[in-house]
Amino acid sequence: MSAVLEVSGVSKRFGAFRALTDVTFDVREGETLGLIGPNGAGKTTLFNIITGFLRPDAGGLHYGGEAIDHLSPERRVSRGMVRTFQKSMVFPELTVRENIAMAARQRAGVGLRWGGAQRRLGAAEARVHQLIGDSGLRRSGGERMSDLSYGEQRIVDLLISLALEPRLLLLDEPTAGLAQEEAERLLQIVRHHDARTSVVLIAHDIDIVFGACDRIAVLNLGQVLCCGTPEVVRADASVRAAYLGALADS
Ligand SMILES: Nc1ncnc2c1ncn2[C@@H]1O[C@H](COP(=O)(O)OP(=O)(O)O)[C@@H](O)[C@H]1O
Ligand SMILES: [Mg+2]
Repeated sequence: MSAVLEVSGVSKRFGAFRALTDVTFDVREGETLGLIGPNGAGKTTLFNIITGFLRPDAGGLHYGGEAIDHLSPERRVSRGMVRTFQKSMVFPELTVRENIAMAARQRAGVGLRWGGAQRRLGAAEARVHQLIGDSGLRRSGGERMSDLSYGEQRIVDLLISLALEPRLLLLDEPTAGLAQEEAERLLQIVRHHDARTSVVLIAHDIDIVFGACDRIAVLNLGQVLCCGTPEVVRADASVRAAYLGALADS
């Protein structure tokens, strides 16, 4: 399987503090890669570097086989790199459908060019309908975001990201604060979405990550301790010692 993203020797300091040290791993086409590690391990900093919000002090990135270190965050988005934040980014006064439709229209280029706008608008609307239908949300889409539960809002956050048809989707703690059932539904949507989409998932719930991911990278004090299949990570001595002592029982 070829890599959609290669992170090579990335380091980042904030003053004297080493947030990331020589971080190397790849994300393969179509896989779901879990990124785990204690609070402060550097997970969000790594997302900021991948998406171009922060520049690394050393190391670099290849995306789709090309060096992208010079590309702005906007250019990376336009190449299919989509990221969610720890906090929700929806418009609370708009409906579920309107929120998702804005992303779908942006993806379809509606409003930017005239030619074929009607056809593209139709395709974008169909896509919104399908995303809501497939989501398992017991919602028509006509509800205002502010009337949804927190968990439902997080699922809509995900649907908005998926409406952009990402090649690489970076999810920063999408399941934080969700009940088990909601978290499982969210990950079902991730897993059953377009098999060509590669996903990097940051989450704290070990069961969720080990259940939903093809491979897992473990970050500790800004360094990759281990990257591999759930079986490999579970068995890794450095991971068990540093972070997953609890795994011995699970
Ligand atoms: N802009 C910044 N300036 C200074 N320190 C930062 C900045 N961003 C993150 N850090 C520090 O870097 C470390 C890693 O943070 P972060 O990447 O948010 O970790 P995680 O997402 O794994 O919890 C933390 O100690 C955090 O305080
Ligand atoms: Mg974080």
